[in-house]
Amino acid sequence: MRILIFLTALATALAQRTPSISWIQKEQVVDIGSSFELQCSVQYAQDYPVLWVKRGTGDTQDLPISTGPTLIVRSSRYALRHDSGSSTYILQIKDIQESDGGEYMCQVILGINNRISASTNLLVRRPPVISDNSTRNVVVSEGDPVNLECYAGGMPQPNITWRRENNAILPTGGSIARGNKLQILKIRKEDRGTYYCIADNGVGRGARRNVNVEVEFAPVVKATRPHVYQALQYDMDLECHVEAYPPAAIRWILKQESLVNNQHYRVSQFATADEYTDTTLRVLSIEKRQFGNYSCVANNKLGQSHAVVQLIESITPVCPPACDNLNFSGDASRTVTSPALAALALVAAVFHRI
Ligand SMILES: *[C@@H]1O[C@H](CO)[C@@H](O)[C@H](O)[C@H]1NC(C)=O
Ligand SMILES: *[C@@H]1O[C@H](CO)[C@@H](O)[C@H](O)[C@H]1NC(C)=O
Ligand SMILES: *[C@@H]1O[C@H](CO)[C@@H](O)[C@H](O)[C@H]1NC(C)=O
Ligand SMILES: *[C@@H]1O[C@H](CO)[C@@H](O)[C@H](O)[C@H]1NC(C)=O
Repeated sequence: MRILIFLTALATALAQRTPSISWIQKEQVVDIGSSFELQCSVQYAQDYPVLWVKRGTGDTQDLPISTGPTLIVRSSRYALRHDSGSSTYILQIKDIQESDGGEYMCQVILGINNRISASTNLLVRRPPVISDNSTRNVVVSEGDPVNLECYAGGMPQPNITWRRENNAILPTGGSIARGNKLQILKIRKEDRGTYYCIADNGVGRGARRNVNVEVEFAPVVKATRPHVYQALQYDMDLECHVEAYPPAAIRWILKQESLVNNQHYRVSQFATADEYTDTTLRVLSIEKRQFGNYSCVANNKLGQSHAVVQLIESITPVCPPACDNLNFSGDASRTVTSPALAALALVAAVFHRI
């Protein structure tokens, strides 16, 4: 019995001499500019150095901050307290900066190759920053699969969401999608436009990147009016609307002949946006052979398309544009370019004299 008590006492005495770390602060998330205390409680460590060490990351080395009650690093932002009652070493950090984030280690050095340690993380809140490896702009062909990717740093780890300009519906459905990747299996030309990658972690206002998605597609050509009527000797406009990306080369064709600007035709084009062009063919002072089927042909590297405008002879002139160079408000001195109207004017003048 006596021996047992003796052994127990001896064991206790031996145990008392073995230092240990009984408690260390849990991982904490703090704001930039705030203050914070890191606490580490040790037992039976009076005879040993107790250190606070900031762990290095990658290219930086471990940095011992304090030993026992003494700061090693001189910084007005660090202060040290020792609560001898609970044998707690308290490292206070004021005006927290982003670089203060990281792993802090409480260490008791028992010998050259003998140390005990415990560590905790200090996480400093940071607003999201979208990483450079996120998709910027993409140019794809209609029908292609498209992968938009977006990554962001920040503390805590930001959530990524996708939206489209004007809250348009995403090709994947709905107006909002979550996750780093937005995968479009087969892009349509209607899916082109600006996409937003939004990173949010509750710190600050979040970050946004605009991702421009250009979809190249073969031309789509429509005749504004497929049948137009005009009388002989008058001018008439034929119009086509072309949708294409990249912009298409546009030609007007009559009887297999490409039409160019001359005394019979005037071709004009007006781009209303990157991918929309209106083209007008003005047929000047129409002759009999100019009635017929005109094609407006558009082609780009993805293909070719056309529409037909039929110019049909009418008895009476159609305004506009027939009246463009006439003035019915009574200016008799005006020259009338159309022979038909000139004849009319002549008849009128003759009647006037009678
Ligand atoms: C993008 O970069 C971030 C760091 O900026 C990294 O964490 C992430 O893994 C990278 N993603 C890819 C797919 O490369
Ligand atoms: C990310 O989204 C989830 C689910 O909506 C939410 O619970 C979490 O708090 C968000 N994280 C951040 C950092 O905002
Ligand atoms: C133009 O096209 C129409 C319909 O496609 C056809 O009926 C007509 O004969 C054509 N006219 C000429 C001059 O080829
Ligand atoms: C038509 O005549 C009126 C009055 O004489 C003049 O103000 C106007 O500019 C003319 N229009 C054209 C298209 O010549």
